[in-house]
Amino acid sequence: MKFELRNVTRRFGDRIAVNAVNVEIPQGQMVGIIGRSGAGKSTLLRMINRLQEPSSGSIHFGGVEVSALRGAALRNWQRDCAMIFQQFNLVPRLDVMTNVLLGRLNHRSTVMSLLKIFNRDERVMAIAALERLGIEQTALQPAGTLSGGQQQRVAIARALVQAPKMVLADEPIASLDPLNAKIVMDALRNINEREGITVITNLHTLDTARSYCERIIGMAGGRVVFDGPPQALDATAVREIYGSDKDGAGIDESMTSTSLESTRRPEAAPSGNVMAQAAVMR
Ligand SMILES: Nc1ncnc2c1ncn2[C@@H]1O[C@H](COP(=O)(O)OP(=O)(O)OP(=O)(O)O)[C@@H](O)[C@H]1O
Ligand SMILES: [Mg+2]
Repeated sequence: MKFELRNVTRRFGDRIAVNAVNVEIPQGQMVGIIGRSGAGKSTLLRMINRLQEPSSGSIHFGGVEVSALRGAALRNWQRDCAMIFQQFNLVPRLDVMTNVLLGRLNHRSTVMSLLKIFNRDERVMAIAALERLGIEQTALQPAGTLSGGQQQRVAIARALVQAPKMVLADEPIASLDPLNAKIVMDALRNINEREGITVITNLHTLDTARSYCERIIGMAGGRVVFDGPPQALDATAVREIYGSDKDGAGIDESMTSTSLESTRRPEAAPSGNVMAQAAVMR
């Protein structure tokens, strides 16, 4: 099923955060959104999941206008596109298992949800998700006691039990060290490849987007200024996305890199120095 943004604009006062964006995404793509701070990446993702409303334009999935949904239909849509955040958004005092089961809430009746009563099938599903992410041994620990990398894996397990059609991730690895960043990106890729779930992820490092995403959307000043495969993202396109620094020097690709190179897809073009940190861009 095709997902589509048609001429989507979002204003905050007289500032335009997202400016007339048109994007079509077939089911099952892994898409990376890149751009400097303030480019509109988070606003775009939040509109897809309806955490924020477009000022104009419309959003469609299959034959349904997502941007017009209300009530139960809107909640169903939010269940269908699971969100993953930079800061994990777990309930720190609840154990890991319960945090994962919270992903089932929109699948069940309110009373059962309020009482946090989950049936055997749901518990089996939650354990299977934790096993898949290699953290089943943490099931009974309070989520707040886990490392950042483990917490993000719990968040992905929670997204999985939600049985989503799409996963939206807003800088899922920005708070993680390179090893955990790789584990989390590998998990997102695995979900994308095994379940055919569309993954749309904001990333602030170009090399991660190149390594993991078959399609890259570059934003600048709220507009889409690049949309294509990583191989097409040449120096000119990178400059258009990231602009120049205050002295007028072009932005070097190495400034937007981490050290996730070992995971690079074979068809991806090589990039420069992968050790420099993306913090330069932010
Ligand atoms: N709730 C809001 N109220 C006012 N302005 C906002 C709001 N949310 C975002 N903006 C503005 O919209 C623009 C786009 O912000 P957004 O958070 O989408 O950028 P981003 O690309 O995700 O940046 P970052 O890389 O820093 O996360 C910015 O100028 C921001 O200040
Ligand atoms: Mg953001």
